[in-house]
Parts: sequence; C-alpha cells; structure tokens
Amino acid sequence: MNGHILLNDPLNHNPFDEADTLTVSGVASMGHVIEPGVIDISHGTILYLEDVSVSFDGFRALNKLSLAIDAGELRCVIGPNGAGKTTMMDVITGKTSPDSGKVFLGQTLDLTRMNEPTIARAGIGRKFQKPTVFEQHPVWENLELAMKADKGWFATLRARLDRDAQAKIEQTLEIIRLESDARRLAGELSHGQKQRLEIGMLLMQKPQLLLLDEPAAGMTDDETMELATLLNRLRGSCSMMVVEHDMEFVAALAGETGRVTVMAEGRVLAHGTLDEVKRDETVIESYLGR
Ligand SMILES: Nc1ncnc2c1ncn2[C@@H]1O[C@H](COP(=O)(O)OP(=O)(O)OP(=O)(O)O)[C@@H](O)[C@H]1O
Ligand SMILES: [Mg+2]
Repeated sequence: MNGHILLNDPLNHNPFDEADTLTVSGVASMGHVIEPGVIDISHGTILYLEDVSVSFDGFRALNKLSLAIDAGELRCVIGPNGAGKTTMMDVITGKTSPDSGKVFLGQTLDLTRMNEPTIARAGIGRKFQKPTVFEQHPVWENLELAMKADKGWFATLRARLDRDAQAKIEQTLEIIRLESDARRLAGELSHGQKQRLEIGMLLMQKPQLLLLDEPAAGMTDDETMELATLLNRLRGSCSMMVVEHDMEFVAALAGETGRVTVMAEGRVLAHGTLDEVKRDETVIESYLGR
C-alpha cells in the first residue's frame, strides 16, 4: 500500500475496510491526504518526539523532551508528580502546542500541524484518568455509540454495516471481558469495569496508538491486574504508551524486557528495563526514594 505498513487490526478483522476506502477518497477529494488507519511505520517507529518544549507562564513543563516508541511496543512512562507526563500526552494529541520541537506519528504525520480531531482520526486514542462512559446507556450501546462517533457521516451505509458492526462489538466485549454485562447500564458497572469499557470504546475506533494516563488509578488490586491482562492482550495489535504510578502494574506490563521511560522536570531522566531504571541512582534520588 504505497510503502505504508498497516499495523494489525486489534480484532484481526476490519469490518470497515470498505468504508475506510470510501473515507479516503472522500477526504482526498477535499484536498487532504490523511488516510485513516494508515501510518507509515516503515522505519519501525510509531511515535517520535525530539526536543519538545512547552512553557506555561515561563515554567518549563516540557524541557527538550525526546523519545521514540516502536510500532507495536507497550511503553510504560513513570515519574514524579509534575514531571510533564500529562503535558506530553496533551502535546501528542494536539491539545497543547509545543513552543518548539518535533512530534511525528510514523514517518510522515507532523502532529504539531494537526488539530485534535484530525490527530484522533489519524489513529491516536487517548484514555483519560476518569472513565467517561454514557452512564444511562447499556454497555453494548456505549460501544455502538463509540463506533458511530468515528463513522458519523457514514450513517447511510449503516444497513450494510450492521452485521459486521455487531460482530465487532461482540469481539470487543470479549476483549474487555464484559460479555455478560453487555445489557447492563454503564452507570451500574464498577470503576474497573467502566475503565475497561472506555478502553473498549477507544478500540471501536481502531487506534494505532493508545495513550493511557494513569488507567489504574482508583482501582482495586484485582481490577488493576485485570487491566494489566487486558493491555497485555492488546500487545501487537496497537502500540501503547501507559503513564502510571502503580509499580506493580508497571511491572506486570513491562515484564523483564519491556522498556520503561522515567520522566522528571519535563525530560527523560532514565530509560531501560524496569530493573535497570530501578537501579539508576538519579531515578532513586528523584522518584523512587531510598
Ligand atoms: N495548563 C497549564 N497551565 C499552567 N501550568 C500547567 C498546565 N498544565 C500543566 N502545568 C504544570 O506543568 C507541570 C507538569 O504537569 P503535568 O500535569 O504534565 O505533570 P504529570 O507528570 O502528569 O504529573 P502527575 O503525575 O501529578 O499527573 C506541573 O508543574 C503543572 O502544574
Ligand atoms: Mg499527570
């Protein structure tokens, strides 16, 4: 596909291939060249930040931050309060414009030149700390609405898509382990279940890169481990960046070989396996304590 490499679809099957083709031609005819779901990862990198700086009233929240995420990688980011982790996600998703630096999705998409909705359509899904689900609607409908939000102007094709859409919803329910709760109102779910539902809603939009900001906050130990299992299952189907303070959760995601980035004062303080960064003197001083 023009030298582009597609990441695997999270669900191995993409009922919207046809619709996306139409989207591409529709969008192209309006003078844009962004192809939904297609990111050039031919060099193996899905996200690239170089010397990114952001100041708020003279305070440097990000200070020449540089990091790269491999396609398919699950990267954990840790660091003290105020290190700039959330600000980094704000920059990646277009919520905050950096004062300087490069931010690229794949080889070709300059995120500093794109707005929030365009970045979301290009394949970046973001999970905020607080779950935002439609409490008054059943779980099933939450997933359906998430899909419609993505394909809004394809409503006319719905009749044809319905059967595939249903299959996609069922697959997602299985991934987030909410099959038996499909008919319950989202408002009745536990905090951990709501968090999983929101991840399911993001998956309905087929993200290539998922950003999760403290997804385990406020969860019980069991819910936290269930979330780790879910994210580990998504490995390889989309790239992920997970910001988290809970070290057991980070250990469950990083394993022995996964790379962990430690941020402090707006830049990368250390980088390596969890064991390596835990032994790093500067990390012990500024974050983990003795
Ligand atoms: N919109 C803003 N206006 C002014 N200052 C801000 C703004 N957003 C963030 N900051 C400041 O930038 C710094 C980095 O904040 P950020 O929220 O990115 O840190 P964080 O690493 O996510 O911390 P935490 O672990 O507590 O979530 C903090 O000192 C914060 O007060
Ligand atoms: Mg934060």
